[in-house]
Amino acid sequence: MTKTTISQVYKYVDQEVTIGAWIANKRSSGKIAFLQLRDGTGFIQGVVVKAEVPEKAFQSAKSVTQESSVYVTGKVQKDERSPFGYELLVMGMEVIHHAVDYPITPKEHGTEFLMDNRHLWLRSRRQHAVMKIRNEIIRATYEFFNEEGFSKVDPPILTGSAPEGTSELFATKYFDEDAYLSQSGQLYMEAAAMALGKVFSFGPTFRAEKSKTRRHLIEFWMIEPEMAFCEFDDNLKVQEEYVAHIVQSVLKNCPIELKTLGRETENLEKITVPFPRITYDEAIKFLQEKGFADIQWGDDFGAPHETAIAESYEKPVFITHYPTSLKPFYMQPDPTREDVVLCADLIAPEGYGEIIGGSERIHDYELLKKRIEEHNLDMDAYKWYLELRQYGSVPHSGFGLGLERTVAWISGVEHVRETIPFPRLLNRLYP
Ligand code: 4AD
Ligand code: MG
Repeated sequence: MTKTTISQVYKYVDQEVTIGAWIANKRSSGKIAFLQLRDGTGFIQGVVVKAEVPEKAFQSAKSVTQESSVYVTGKVQKDERSPFGYELLVMGMEVIHHAVDYPITPKEHGTEFLMDNRHLWLRSRRQHAVMKIRNEIIRATYEFFNEEGFSKVDPPILTGSAPEGTSELFATKYFDEDAYLSQSGQLYMEAAAMALGKVFSFGPTFRAEKSKTRRHLIEFWMIEPEMAFCEFDDNLKVQEEYVAHIVQSVLKNCPIELKTLGRETENLEKITVPFPRITYDEAIKFLQEKGFADIQWGDDFGAPHETAIAESYEKPVFITHYPTSLKPFYMQPDPTREDVVLCADLIAPEGYGEIIGGSERIHDYELLKKRIEEHNLDMDAYKWYLELRQYGSVPHSGFGLGLERTVAWISGVEHVRETIPFPRLLNRLYP
């Protein structure tokens, strides 16, 4: 007997195969049973016809419970009606483990209940689709940066520095010293770019932010490329090409998952280079004209502002040249204007908000030292970072893409809590 998986059944049309699976759902009458089977690679319907299988096999199909594990043997058939295209005509079934009272039934459950059962909820068709899309984005990320000549470098997670400001640090003890969980690997990636030229990282980052929005996680994953000899404009080009690549990869490789989620693909097909750009000044003017009467030059944007700006575009939009006062200490000032920096946030369409923050970095030693002082940062902790500007300093730039917000946008999922296997939220450390 050929043992295979659901994703591979297309190779065995009209042949008999065995699949290890779980019973996602079941429907039966006196003469026929329909089993919704899942095995991690996909979902397929198994049809058990009483007249065509031994009585014992039919009884076991009728009595098998939701989420029991089984080995099913059957003949693969093409099925034009199913979104998957195949079904299994079941010939025999062996129950491996009989599940009793699986808590997540096909009825509606509240979000808190589902989050308490996240370890089981992950098995659902919808959560499976989101995790597959997340995986495809990660795969396409490595593909893109490897093809563009980047090396992957892994920055530390336990650190003594605070690249994005001191208010959101996750403090911990490092034996007798104070340490923090990394809120961004950027500073280390700058050191790596001086050694390897073009580098990227992919790892967890932590923000002890007391935010309870659909865009905020306490622990999230970030992709952080950093490039030597790279100026502001070159940086934006890499970002738009990267984002277009991951969107097109998901469209190509996850059609079933997008369909499962009911994601409108028409909007995603439009995500090609180049992306529109507006300056912070233009964005403020636009918002004031749109009726946001209170917003003034120097204010940061909230979610409603970002959504209003994004609504004017079909693609993600770069907002560039923010006021220096709104951004971290390391950003390069605009040479023609001291009050703004060479930075850009990339705002996703459809109200998903900022998915990338990036900038050119200060490469002048004296200016960087001044900024560290102005921000009251501990000079000793940044000694190594300043030294990067003492030995062959070069213009360099980079950015950070938040994986979960990107998954939410591409999947069309409302809240980031569904885009990471085990979300860490303000009031949630379980499971
Ligand atoms: O804009 P941020 O804070 O930028 C940095 O950390 C830079 N050091 C990156 C760099 O230049 N290497 O964060 C980057 C992205 C945001 O655009 C957002 O997508 C995501 O990280 N992000 C979060 N995602 C989920 N939950 C949170 N609390 C997030 N905070 C930031
Ligand atoms: Mg940001």
